[in-house]
Amino acid sequence: MRAGPIDYNEYSRFPTRRVRHIPGNSGAPIIGDSLRFLKDLPGLTRDKYLRYGPVFRVNAFFQDTIVLLGPDANEAILKDTNKCFSSALAWNTSLDKIFPNGLMLKDFEEHKYHRKILQVAFKRGAIERYVDAMSPQIANAIETWPTGQPLRFYDHVKNLLLEVAAAVFLGLDVTPEAGRLNRSFVDAVEATLALVRINLPGNRWSRGQRGRAYLEAFVHAHIAGKRDSADQDIFAQVCRARDDEGRYFSEQAIIDHVIFLLFAAHDTTTSTLCSIIFALASNPTWQQRLREEYRSFDTIHPDLGAISAMDDTALVFREALRMYPPLATIPRRCVRDTEVLGHRIPRNAGVGISPLFTHYMEEYWTAPTRFDPERFAPGRAEDKQHFFQYIPFGGGAHKCLGMHFAEVQSKLFLHHFLRHYEVSVEPGYAMARSVVPLSLPTDGLPVTLRKIEQI
Ligand code: HEM
Repeated sequence: MRAGPIDYNEYSRFPTRRVRHIPGNSGAPIIGDSLRFLKDLPGLTRDKYLRYGPVFRVNAFFQDTIVLLGPDANEAILKDTNKCFSSALAWNTSLDKIFPNGLMLKDFEEHKYHRKILQVAFKRGAIERYVDAMSPQIANAIETWPTGQPLRFYDHVKNLLLEVAAAVFLGLDVTPEAGRLNRSFVDAVEATLALVRINLPGNRWSRGQRGRAYLEAFVHAHIAGKRDSADQDIFAQVCRARDDEGRYFSEQAIIDHVIFLLFAAHDTTTSTLCSIIFALASNPTWQQRLREEYRSFDTIHPDLGAISAMDDTALVFREALRMYPPLATIPRRCVRDTEVLGHRIPRNAGVGISPLFTHYMEEYWTAPTRFDPERFAPGRAEDKQHFFQYIPFGGGAHKCLGMHFAEVQSKLFLHHFLRHYEVSVEPGYAMARSVVPLSLPTDGLPVTLRKIEQI
């Protein structure tokens, strides 16, 4: 079915509450299940699933959401054959004031048009060049990390990824300007979590607005220069990208896309590297196995071909994303009455699927709480029973545009990091983490590094 453009003005900011026909309850008076949603989303989801089955409603933050669990539900919502589910309406609630008009905030034909143009920045040739730019930068940065004492891995990797993003996304070397850009970016991201969304002196929201304005001004000032340059960063690629008729993106579209790409890439990759390092610090055998893999390449700066051949690292990357998908849930808003798994979903209902729940379903995964990267190896291929059982990058039209870039960057980091260091955590340590809005360590992930003989 061909869907016409959505008139977003027809929709209220929040989804309809007319979902009482769906099994479930409204939780505590006024606050519903908000507290448990924040503190223990996996437990809340499991309890409701056991009580009501794979389709139920929850009420959190004054909104009703229909939760749909399992691979079939993931397929119905992500494949969205009849174009019933809007990504924009779902994500706008939290993102439209700070990261407006990004790819995830577009739907159907308009989304397809923009995505096709942006794809040029993620083609193999482009990623090859990002690898060349990133590799020395990562190698140099990690050299200075302290050894023999507890180190907050989260802080270090977040800073490193910001520096790499300044170079690879924006084409900047580490300069004072990069410092201001990083601060502005971090302020903008933090503002997406602000509960108070009005400007008050020094509050999170106003800092975020200022951050966004600085990023906009920076990107705007460089568009013309980038377009005429031979630069190979993502910003330059987006400036030079054209549609089938040879038209460039408008200046505002370039600004919105570049800033959104930074946003989509940053915390997700930080989250992934934290999960991987926690898993490897807790599983020294796998840590050593990856080191052996890098030894076999016999090069300090692997190219894309070598990175693609890092099979054991790929298994670890996949398993970490299974156990700790950065986006535990993926939201949508229904734009026409439909039915999923035998339940009527009314227009304007908020719906959510759960990568996290699906990744632990015992019907699909052997001993799902165990870190077992081999489950993805060709002989076992546990992930291949249902196309939508493993969805750390989502699926369908909005499947992550940066998934290959994220894998390449993570592998490159691990290559340099594990060639330099042995990483450990205290015996019995379990990483404390938030699950929403993103899976991130709440204790900074304390690890200890020990320098090893260069391999
Ligand atoms: C391991 C790291 C990453 C994870 C787990 C991840 C996960 C996701 C998920 C689940 C979605 C779909 C959201 C939805 O359907 O509502 C998504 C979309 C997206 N991601 Fe990623 N992401 C990662 C890294 C990146 C990177 C590095 C970039 C850019 C360089 C990026 C750019 C995007 C963009 C542009 C979209 C929107 C795609 C669209 O709407 O067509 N992501 N990502």
